[in-house]
Amino acid sequence: MSTDIRFDGVTVAYGRNVVLDALDLTVEPGEVMALLGPSGSGKTTALRAVAGFVQPVAGRIFIGDRDVTDLPPHRRGIGMVVQQYALFPHMRVDANVAFGLRARRTPREETAVRVTEALEATGMAGYAKRYPRELSGGQQQRVAIARALAIRPGVLLFDEPLSALDAPLRSGMLAELARLHRDLPDVSMLYVTHDQVEALTLADRIAVMDRARLQDCGTPQDLYRRPRTGFTASFVGNANLLPVTVTARGVRLGDTALDVPTGDAVAGAPATLCLRPHLLGLGEGPNALRGTVAEVQWRGVTHRLAVDVAGHRITADVRELREMPPLGTGITLHFAADDAVLLPAGEGGGAARG
Ligand SMILES: Nc1ncnc2c1ncn2[C@@H]1O[C@H](COP(=O)(O)OP(=O)(O)O)[C@@H](O)[C@H]1O
Ligand SMILES: [Mg+2]
Repeated sequence: MSTDIRFDGVTVAYGRNVVLDALDLTVEPGEVMALLGPSGSGKTTALRAVAGFVQPVAGRIFIGDRDVTDLPPHRRGIGMVVQQYALFPHMRVDANVAFGLRARRTPREETAVRVTEALEATGMAGYAKRYPRELSGGQQQRVAIARALAIRPGVLLFDEPLSALDAPLRSGMLAELARLHRDLPDVSMLYVTHDQVEALTLADRIAVMDRARLQDCGTPQDLYRRPRTGFTASFVGNANLLPVTVTARGVRLGDTALDVPTGDAVAGAPATLCLRPHLLGLGEGPNALRGTVAEVQWRGVTHRLAVDVAGHRITADVRELREMPPLGTGITLHFAADDAVLLPAGEGGGAARG
């Protein structure tokens, strides 16, 4: 059974407020797709549309060959895991995991087999008779995942499943979700998060959302190396976004000519130059940027420099310095032409974040 998830022009609105704007996106069979974006960008809405908890005002949703747009949630073959575990407090773990099977009237013996299987898959086999209140947050989330697995869904939906857990637990669960993905090679997963580390770690591809719209979609490496928008550049990793003018042989930042690939940009047009802080080198080289030191932060293996160049503040992460340059002194940065990405004008602007 093919289990790709396809959004075909899906629009969701509350009254006149469009919160998901004509989303076109396909999650391939067996793929983990992260929906990454800031709070309010429409990620949960997209997920709930697949699950059947919100109805689009336009567009269709397909799971495999089936148009599920008008099907009720329990007929879509979906397992869903949300941030708040949502276990039934008065039911033991095994009854919680069996819940979806009971609702589907699965025979008793089959239910028992599947519950055991799902609890084993999530490392919770020894906890079948506990109540949720007798479990830690991480264990409760495993039970919620077991419950989603028990119906043997073709599609798993996750909505910020790790955000209620504290940091050490989160990285452990992240590794377990990666293992789950390897153990279930046919299950397509849509994973909503605002956390770029989760998306970069777990996803085969990332769909970047902002203000109800899909901004970009690609493998983590693609989005990192070749973002198509300033929003992607600064949301996936860290970026200096500098306003430049396209020339015949590259671009100009203030009075400084830089030799970077310009693709089909027209000479004289404004554009945005994206430079990753860790791809900037210290000292003279091709594409030298001469400026003054505005700030220095020691970060262990690197120093983070803020350098003022032609009225723009540029962030550079360089290998730990033996001597800290005094503030206000002249300093030169450089970068390789291949490490620069030229974006449309007016994208973002300003220096990289923390
Ligand atoms: N039931 C609802 N009624 C009205 N507005 C809603 C409802 N659910 C979500 N919204 C709005 O839709 C927008 C997108 O929400 P959501 O999909 O939850 O974003 P995200 O998951 O990316 O944080 C937000 O502006 C939110 O306030
Ligand atoms: Mg959300």
